[in-house]
Amino acid sequence: MSEANQLRGRLRVPGDKSISHRALLLAALAEGRSRVSGLSGGEDVVATATAVTAMGARLEGDVVIGGRSRLHEPERVIDVGNSGTGIRLLAGWCASMPWLTVLQGDASIGRRPMDRVTVPLRRMGATIDGREGGRLPPLVVRGGGLSGIDLDLEVPSAQVKGAVLLAGLVAAGETIVRERVATRSHTEEMLAACGADIEVSADRLTTRLRPSELAPFELDVPGDPSQAAFWLVAACLVPGSEVTVERVYVGPGRAGFLDVLRRMGANLEIDPSGPTVATVTARHSPALRGTTIQGEEVPSLIDEIPVLAVAAAVAEGPTEVRDAAELRVKESDRVATTVALLTALGAASEPRSDGLLISGGSHLTAGTVDSAGDHRIAMAAAIAALVAPGPTRITGWEAVRTSYPNFEQDLRHLQTGAKQ
Ligand code: S3P
Repeated sequence: MSEANQLRGRLRVPGDKSISHRALLLAALAEGRSRVSGLSGGEDVVATATAVTAMGARLEGDVVIGGRSRLHEPERVIDVGNSGTGIRLLAGWCASMPWLTVLQGDASIGRRPMDRVTVPLRRMGATIDGREGGRLPPLVVRGGGLSGIDLDLEVPSAQVKGAVLLAGLVAAGETIVRERVATRSHTEEMLAACGADIEVSADRLTTRLRPSELAPFELDVPGDPSQAAFWLVAACLVPGSEVTVERVYVGPGRAGFLDVLRRMGANLEIDPSGPTVATVTARHSPALRGTTIQGEEVPSLIDEIPVLAVAAAVAEGPTEVRDAAELRVKESDRVATTVALLTALGAASEPRSDGLLISGGSHLTAGTVDSAGDHRIAMAAAIAALVAPGPTRITGWEAVRTSYPNFEQDLRHLQTGAKQ
C-alpha cells in the first residue's frame, strides 16, 4: 500500500453529540444563565437547540438562558431532523412539561422504535400517542402530573435512561432506572453537576433520582469520541500516518472502541488531560488482527462499529460482532449497511441477527457505497476509501452534516499535514 493518502497532524473533532444534546436540554431547565461552549455544530444538535428555543429558552452565543418559569408550549411541531437521541430525550423532557408537544423527524426517524420511551413515560403518567399506538413518530406528548417509577431497562439504551430521568425531575417520589448492562452515563453525571438529587450505584447499573431543580452550569463540551474514531482508524490503516486528536471524551461507556483497537494491535497513545478527557494519537499499525466484540462492551462502542468494521476488514483473521442487535435500529440498519459498505469495497462479511462476521485479510478496492442516509456509514466509507486504490463514490454523502459538517475540511487538514 502506498503512502499516497497518509494523514498527519493534530485536530479537534466536534463537541460530543450526546453531551451537547443534554447540555442544551439541562441548560434550558436550569433557572438562569448557563455557559456552554464547544457544542457539536451538527444538524442533530442544532435541531435540539431549535427545539428548546421554540419552547422559551434563549441562546445568546455560548449563553443559554433557561428556567421552567420561562418555558412555554411550542406553537408549532418540533422537528428533530435525523436525531434519535433528540426525539427520545425530548420525549422525556416534554413529558415533564404541562403542555402539548408534537415531535417529528425525517424519514429515518419515522422508522425508529419509540415504544422504548413511550411505554415508561406513559407509566409515569404522561399521555403520549404516535403512529402504530406510540411505536413510531410523530409523537404527541401531553406532559405533567408525573409519578416516579422503578424501571428495569430491557433494551440497553442511554437515550431511554436519559428520557426517564429528565421526566423524573418533576415526578412525585423517586425515579429508579435499573440497567442490565451499563450504558453511557452523561445524563446522570450532568444532572449531578447541576445539583440534582441523584445517586448512581458504584457499578453504574442503578440510578435513583428525586424531584430536583437544576442550577445553571458552565461546560466546555469535550470532543466526540465517535468522531475521533474515524481519524484514529484512518491513521492505523494508512501507511505513514500519525494523527493526534485533542480533548477527546473518554469517560464511562464511551471509550470501548479504544480497547478494541488496542486488542487488534493498533498503535495508540492515550494521554489523559483530566478524569474523562484525553489526547489520543494513532499511528500506522501494519499488523492489525481480528477480534470478538460482544456482551457488556457493545454499548460502549455501538456507534463506532461501522468504522471498526473497516479496520476489521483489512485486519488478519476474522472479527465477530455479537449482542449488537441494536445496530439494526440505528439511523440505518447498520448490520445491513455495514455489510453493503464492505461488499461494495471488496471485503467479505456476513450479516448475523445480532451483529456481523467480517472475514478479514481483504485488500479493499474502490467502489460505490450508498450511505443509506446514515452519517456514520458515509464517514466509515470515506475512511475505507483511503485504502481502496481508485476513486470511491459515496452517494448520500450529505448525511455527514447531521454530526460532522467539517469532516471534509478536517480530512484536507490531515492530508495537508502529511505533505509538509
Ligand atoms: C446515545 C445513545 C446511544 C447511541 C446514540 C447516542 C445517547 O443510543 O447509539 O448515538 O446520546 O444517549 P441508545 O441509547 O439507543 O443505545
